[in-house]
Amino acid sequence: MKVQVCIIGGGPSGLMLSQLLHLQGIDTIVLEKSSREHVLSRIRAGVLEHGFAKLMREAKCGERMDREGEIHKGFHIAHDGVLDYVDLHKYSGGSSVIVYGQTELTRDLYEARDRMGGKIVHSAEEVTPHELASDKPFVTYRDGDKTIRVDCDFVIGADGFHGVSRKSIPKDRLQEFERVYPFGWLGVLSRTKPVSPELVYCKHERGFALCSLRSQVLSRYYIQVPLTDTTEDWPDDAFWAELKRRLPAEAAERLITGPSIEKSIAPLRSFVAEPMRYGRLFLAGDAAHIVPPTGARGLNSAASDIYYLYHAMMDHYKKGDDAGLDAYSQRALARVWKAQRFSWWMTMLLHRFPDRVPYEDKLQDTDMTYLFSSEAALRSLAENYVGLPF
Ligand code: FAD
Ligand code: PHB
Repeated sequence: MKVQVCIIGGGPSGLMLSQLLHLQGIDTIVLEKSSREHVLSRIRAGVLEHGFAKLMREAKCGERMDREGEIHKGFHIAHDGVLDYVDLHKYSGGSSVIVYGQTELTRDLYEARDRMGGKIVHSAEEVTPHELASDKPFVTYRDGDKTIRVDCDFVIGADGFHGVSRKSIPKDRLQEFERVYPFGWLGVLSRTKPVSPELVYCKHERGFALCSLRSQVLSRYYIQVPLTDTTEDWPDDAFWAELKRRLPAEAAERLITGPSIEKSIAPLRSFVAEPMRYGRLFLAGDAAHIVPPTGARGLNSAASDIYYLYHAMMDHYKKGDDAGLDAYSQRALARVWKAQRFSWWMTMLLHRFPDRVPYEDKLQDTDMTYLFSSEAALRSLAENYVGLPF
């Protein structure tokens, strides 16, 4: 089989790029190792910046997001017994974010790909890129006992942090920067009315908590837990009791509990691989960089990678101009590192760090006091949270 662009990974990054390129008459295939049901059962991002939403519309997938997604003009931060408000709209010069689940937007992208006859292979086993440094790369995968070969001009590695793409770059051609945090987030989804119509990030001496939502009848809550904990350690009653302890009194009183419909633990990690290109392989999204979810930046960082790649591919195929492809890694990384800095900062501001010395706790408290006493600090938070331009 021959296509112009072979995309490894059918998460939001791979599907979005495939859809955008298809609309420009560029032929792609998406090779996804899991079943569609499995991809759509993962509960991950909830907050989208407008840059991502714009791409969804450009990909002709934005209709349901615009109908069902909620515009949020701010969020709360609970700390030291008070509930402060971050007015994103005011401090970002009129911008906001959209609350719309990654599960839903992935479903929208799959449906659009199906409608247009896009090629998506699910349960593709042993996906392996070859000859990436040549101008004739190809990818193989296994379908039962058959090995299928896909010849292409370019390979896109959009297969997440644990994928095969980044690992196929020779070690001496890649630099990795990483910080692993000594805790994870235990997340619960429940069919209950959210404790607050807008998000509440909580800094508490027992550890961080977040009240988020997917709609006004579907809540998503998180609590910081040690890395050694498993979901079996947290039956629903224990989760609700611990969440309640970490919420400010007025929110705890309003908390409506119910059975969890999903429960999982995500470890927190900051990670960047440089460069994001090796020969004819281009990395995008979580395959190249990971942030802790505190600043809601992960999927939103993938958006700029996809935007740059999409334009670079169009210039290549329509104008024979490779400047965008050559500049891709440097351009993408410039924005990626800003999202890294912001996510790291929000994580440091809001979590409890088991090994900290008292001096560092004092600095953390001061960071919070400074934030709500300085319009400049609030502006900086707001412009990063709604998404830096790309
Ligand atoms: P992925 O979603 O990881 O998709 C990669 C795909 O590749 C997967 O479907 C995988 O099955 C497939 N794959 C893997 N290996 C192979 C292989 N060898 N062959 C073929 N296919 C393969 N981001 C935000 O912007 N806002 C938020 O509010 C937010 N909240 C989050 C909350 C949590 C708890 C978590 C864990 C993450 C959150 N994120 C958030 C981050 C966001 O979910 C990710 O950044 C996003 O999923 C990245 O998309 P991706 O397509 O690059 O990678
Ligand atoms: C979520 O709703 O899953 C969510 C929201 C905001 C974050 C992280 C996760 O910062």
